[in-house]
Amino acid sequence: MDSNIFHNLAITEEILDLLPVSIFVKDAQSRFQIMNKACEESWGIPLSALQGTDGSHFFSAEQMHRFLEKDQAVFSNRVTVEFEESFWSAKFDSNRIGLTTKKPIYDACNQPAFLVCITKDITDIKTAMRDILQAETELQAAATVEREMASQNSRLSQEITKRNIDLSALTAHVQKISEEEKASLARELHDELGSILVGLNMKFERLSEKLVAADLLQDVSDIQKLLSEACAIKANVINQLYPTILENFGLNAALEWLIGEYAKNTGTEVKLILPQHELVIDHPVSLAAYRIAQECLTNIAKHAQASKVGIEVKVCDGLLHVVITDNGKGLPVGENSAGHGIFGMVERARFLGGSMEISNEHGIGTTAHLILPAAIFPEKIPTKSNQSYPACSSLLAAAVKKPNRATSHLQKGVSVVARKSKKIN
Ligand SMILES: Nc1ncnc2c1ncn2[C@@H]1O[C@H](COP(=O)(O)OP(=O)(O)OP(=O)(O)O)[C@@H](O)[C@H]1O
Ligand SMILES: [Mg+2]
Repeated sequence: MDSNIFHNLAITEEILDLLPVSIFVKDAQSRFQIMNKACEESWGIPLSALQGTDGSHFFSAEQMHRFLEKDQAVFSNRVTVEFEESFWSAKFDSNRIGLTTKKPIYDACNQPAFLVCITKDITDIKTAMRDILQAETELQAAATVEREMASQNSRLSQEITKRNIDLSALTAHVQKISEEEKASLARELHDELGSILVGLNMKFERLSEKLVAADLLQDVSDIQKLLSEACAIKANVINQLYPTILENFGLNAALEWLIGEYAKNTGTEVKLILPQHELVIDHPVSLAAYRIAQECLTNIAKHAQASKVGIEVKVCDGLLHVVITDNGKGLPVGENSAGHGIFGMVERARFLGGSMEISNEHGIGTTAHLILPAAIFPEKIPTKSNQSYPACSSLLAAAVKKPNRATSHLQKGVSVVARKSKKIN
């Protein structure tokens, strides 16, 4: 019978040693009786060092106090309890957290006999859970910051959009006022100065009819030549201020005149490619296209040091394209310009629902690409251009000088200009 008991005890110990959780048994005085291998390993201490003691030489006084308190409560309450507790581990040289179950066992007289304890080391799980919680908290904090930043960004972008709209409206207003002022100045120059020059010319015409002295006749003729030059300058200034050519003859003719003047003044070779037919375009659109081409040419003259300039006007899917290229030094890289020309061009195009881009696209010089939506009605009158301008040789310029040879599509406008010059000449 006794050998059976020992045999059973040995089997029980074997089984306990196979279990992966710490199992130990205390007597009614909380003295260690049995410990399995997992417990020895987890605490880093052999059973031989604890057996028969309450463990006070191994655990801290504070931990001992809690262990004993719990043991007595379990015995006196006669219940199995599960709780978390901290215990010292020599293996880890630190305190660990265990999930412990304590079950009281009573003898035949119903007196406390043993305490069976099972402890699972949950330190790593706890640490992982704490890390997860911390990560979650940090994630939530980051999400809150992100939400705040997103709402701040959205407020800022709304503000920027509003300011852009205000700025565009202001730019358009300033450009409109400037155009109106230039147009009024041009009208005044045309009406006031023009009539004075014409009047003077007529008086000298009459004077020359009465004069007989050859030297005086020569003087009058010289004065008339000067008057003619003044008249040409006046016409030029008027066109610089406000492109009456644009109003009278349309965009193609205005661009011809513009590049003719440009070629004449700068000696640059300019190539103009126009659509096959004259275009009838809304005035605000053709004025914008003309002004932008004018600013591009001014920029090329000022900054590019180009020897060749090209302007191409084409119509695609109801959009007017104006592409202006030069073979100059190109836009400076990473330099913030204090100028307003490019900004003005971009805003002008944007205000009309189009776009304007200027870049060093092809590696040499610059390419400016203007796109404007426009109601375009091609007039079935072939354009006479698509030619190079080593100097001012435009059809229009020729027509202005010799009105009788003006082409049919320029006839109306040319005759207006020609009459004035005829009177002066
Ligand atoms: N065709 C070009 N070739 C080389 N650089 C150019 C050309 N067009 C513009 N730039 C550069 O871009 C800058 C900005 O041009 P923008 O027309 O805005 O100003 P600006 O001509 O300097 O002054 P503003 O037009 O106000 O009189 C210029 O200062 C110049 O450095
Ligand atoms: Mg400029």
